[in-house]
Amino acid sequence: MQQNNYSSVLTLPIFELISSVSEEMNIETFVIGGFVRDYFLKRNFKKDIDIVAVGNGIELAEKVASKLPHQPKVQVFKNYGTAMFRYQDIDIEFVGARKESYSEESRNPLVEIGTLEDDQKRRDFTINALALSLNKNNYGALSDPFNGMLHLEQKCIKTPLNPDITYSDDPLRMLRAIRFAAQLQFEIHTDSFEAIKRNAYRIEIISGERIVDELHKILLTNQPSKGFILLEETGLLALVLPELTALKGVEEEEGQKHKDNFYHTLEVVDNIAKHTDDIWLRWAALLHDIGKVPSKKFNKTLGWTFHGHEFTGSKMVYKLFKRLHMPLNNKMKLVQKLVLLSSRPIVLSQEVTDAAVRRLVFDAGDDIDVLMTLCEADITTKNPARKKIYLHNFKIVRQKIKEVEERDHVRNFQPPISGELIMETFNLQPCREIGLIKEAIKEAILEGEIPNEFNASYQFMLKKAKELGLVI
Ligand code: CTP
Repeated sequence: MQQNNYSSVLTLPIFELISSVSEEMNIETFVIGGFVRDYFLKRNFKKDIDIVAVGNGIELAEKVASKLPHQPKVQVFKNYGTAMFRYQDIDIEFVGARKESYSEESRNPLVEIGTLEDDQKRRDFTINALALSLNKNNYGALSDPFNGMLHLEQKCIKTPLNPDITYSDDPLRMLRAIRFAAQLQFEIHTDSFEAIKRNAYRIEIISGERIVDELHKILLTNQPSKGFILLEETGLLALVLPELTALKGVEEEEGQKHKDNFYHTLEVVDNIAKHTDDIWLRWAALLHDIGKVPSKKFNKTLGWTFHGHEFTGSKMVYKLFKRLHMPLNNKMKLVQKLVLLSSRPIVLSQEVTDAAVRRLVFDAGDDIDVLMTLCEADITTKNPARKKIYLHNFKIVRQKIKEVEERDHVRNFQPPISGELIMETFNLQPCREIGLIKEAIKEAILEGEIPNEFNASYQFMLKKAKELGLVI
């Protein structure tokens, strides 16, 4: 045990309580993992604290919880030998130190009791294996058998054991290495990096949910491209998000090239990260061009085209979400919608007519502002003059959106004439003509032929009905 003492870190009363209960039980206990790491990194957004006991972690958790005034409910995971409860909005997780080995096919561990060092050795990274003692005789003493402190200083992600063993114990750790590198702006040690390349294929045994958790964390960093480039270089991206790696590369035909849509996409994600923390908007940025792979064509007159890639891309979003067990709910629908509409403001900014703006506001509804944020992030031209023009045009589009909104109220368009009124007026049973009239009124409003008002719409209905041969 090294001599550095950090008892001043362990000021939460829960630490004192764990210490006393451990003494009663005659076992040694330590704080380990993210809490300790983040303390040394001066990051203080921890929402969980990991406790390792050289003994029965579940029994310790139950005894500690029973002594707390609010007696929190203890959740026990017998298979893993872990238990947790909530204390002042923090999850306190207990585990018995283990000499852990995982079965090849899944990550269900076969638990064998071990010493503190056995446990530290089986953890993912040296910076996550730092432990502080909660024992009365050396409260606050740091245990760092794998040079975690040095690696914090060197900003290095390194495994305590041979990385092939650490990653094979739990292949999710390969994604965690990249996530920590991206979150903390650390580098992955070369041996680890090579091991990830060798073991990348084993990510297939990890559930979509756990993979997505890490992808979310990478996407939520300040500069997500760093994480995605590492994912690509290690071969993990091709396994978890092949739609993205397929965007990589530049093709040339008859002297004409298209841009590398993979690196373009990463720039868009970095751009949007400066403007929003909304994970779904960041997903939309990441996926906005995936439809370009199946829709890519070359033709002598037009050069490279990606016709309909927005529609194809929005369909691919569903399959991708389903494959990764992501929620197929309104968040997915938002991502689909943003991908589908992702080129509209850009096309529109070349000629801003009222009718086109009305259509855009109608189609985007309440998501018009986030769509504009996405489209502005999509400007990655390296030509400053062109960039200036694009941004200026977007300013005009935003202004026009505001004007059209104030005047025409098409954002959450409610047709001024209902189907019932059409049926009553022309004494109709449900039929095709009702839909035709309603659609014609909507089109007339969006095109600006009539204002979005009852009287004008009523007159228009009469005219349209006459054309269809209906009589009052
Ligand atoms: N751990 C591990 N292997 C994993 C997951 C976790 O060895 N696949 C260990 C690490 O020691 C880690 C600790 O368990 O520090 C707690 O894991 P977790 O709460 O997932 O991560 P934190 O390190 O606390 O970081 P964060 O909260 O940022 O995810």
